[in-house]
Amino acid sequence: MAIQIPRGTQDILPGVVEKWQFIEEQARDLCKRFNYKEIRTPIFEHTDLFQRGVGDTTDIVQKEMYTFEDRGGRSITLRPEGTASTVRSFVENKMFGWADQPVKLYYIGPMFRYERPQSGRYRQFVQFGIEALGSADPAIDAEVISLAMQMYQGLGLTRLKLIINSLGDQESRIAHKNALVSHFTPHISEFCSDCQNRLGTNPLRILDCKKDREHPLMDTAPSILDYLNDESRVYFEKVQDYLNTMGIPFVVDPGLVRGLDYYNHTAFEIMSDAEGFGAITTLSGGGRYNGLAKDLGGPETPGIGFALSIERLLLALQAENIDLPIETGIQCYVVTLGEMAKKKSIHLVNELRKAGLSVETDYLDRKIKAQFKSADRLNAKFVIIIGDEELERNVVSIKDLQAGTQEEVVIETLVDVVKGKLG
Ligand code: HAM
Repeated sequence: MAIQIPRGTQDILPGVVEKWQFIEEQARDLCKRFNYKEIRTPIFEHTDLFQRGVGDTTDIVQKEMYTFEDRGGRSITLRPEGTASTVRSFVENKMFGWADQPVKLYYIGPMFRYERPQSGRYRQFVQFGIEALGSADPAIDAEVISLAMQMYQGLGLTRLKLIINSLGDQESRIAHKNALVSHFTPHISEFCSDCQNRLGTNPLRILDCKKDREHPLMDTAPSILDYLNDESRVYFEKVQDYLNTMGIPFVVDPGLVRGLDYYNHTAFEIMSDAEGFGAITTLSGGGRYNGLAKDLGGPETPGIGFALSIERLLLALQAENIDLPIETGIQCYVVTLGEMAKKKSIHLVNELRKAGLSVETDYLDRKIKAQFKSADRLNAKFVIIIGDEELERNVVSIKDLQAGTQEEVVIETLVDVVKGKLG
């Protein structure tokens, strides 16, 4: 039996990969405009990093990590997300000492989570994410959100919904946590075993439980917004103020808690409300994680970021019927007729490619008609026809497939003529 691809992964084949490249280019271009620099971290890290970074009580760490022992007996995990690695690198490379602060970084790469695969949910998916470390200015929260929105809007998406919340600082979180414990304790036996554990470890996670979503106590749970201390409230107001200044519409949703433990203050998600988008409507999420650098052994450093997956972005584009402007054609197809012509074509194809043109030719000894068909299929702009008879006169023909015109040119001028025509 032939071996098949693992569940929850996908091959991205020619014809579709161009969309990925286009999106990745847009992301890079956007980051350039916002002055975020690329960072590349390893795809695997020590398991401790995610236990400490993402949090022991999260679904990601408890149920979804690809963890294995390497041959040296170390526990290694395929990264489930990019923030912990980025902050680890920030600390390890002492980026807090860099002259330019905040340090603004972005990444594009595969992440791994052992989740139940479905539309928009994979076990290997590609995240584009950004992280800004070293500033506790609410303006940078607004900048991160603005970049996320521009990524989608720049590709033509309109059915977007931005929801934001504040998870407050530590003092506010402790007050909220106590309120949650009082709220859930009398009825905790009606909740799933995970939630019963969460009550003692991290009651905020109960609000994120998929199994107990319908329990009446969920709707009446104390809202974090009622427990924000003055500092956290003012911070959140400023973020909203800046979003308004930039004309970015948003909805405050006190139920937004996010699935990772490192968050405090601002948390946000961008959803698609396009019909046919499917059950999972979250396109991206992010937020502030002021304690994370310290938790990972660095100095106290504020940070904020977000990440989106390209898989869900593509689904949103499909749901809104948006075609990306993908160029798949080649510039020249070289058709050969005869033995001498074949030899000459090898040289000419090489010269054209050296001059920077995209060029294809026949490698299957096809008849001339079939070669023209290939040129058509490849969407070639020009067909260059090399025949033994023309070679004797030191010329080749160039046919413009769109205009239907054809002309002969002296071989030595071919590269310049083609380049001239392409403009
Ligand atoms: P997250 O909400 O776990 O946050 O993931 C961010 C995004 O990654 C999701 O909104 C979704 O687009 C995508 N994603 C997550 N899991 C899957 C999956 N199984 N299949 C396809 N796409 C998926 C984080 O990862 C944080 N590190 C974001 C962040 C950066 N916060 C601060 N900085």
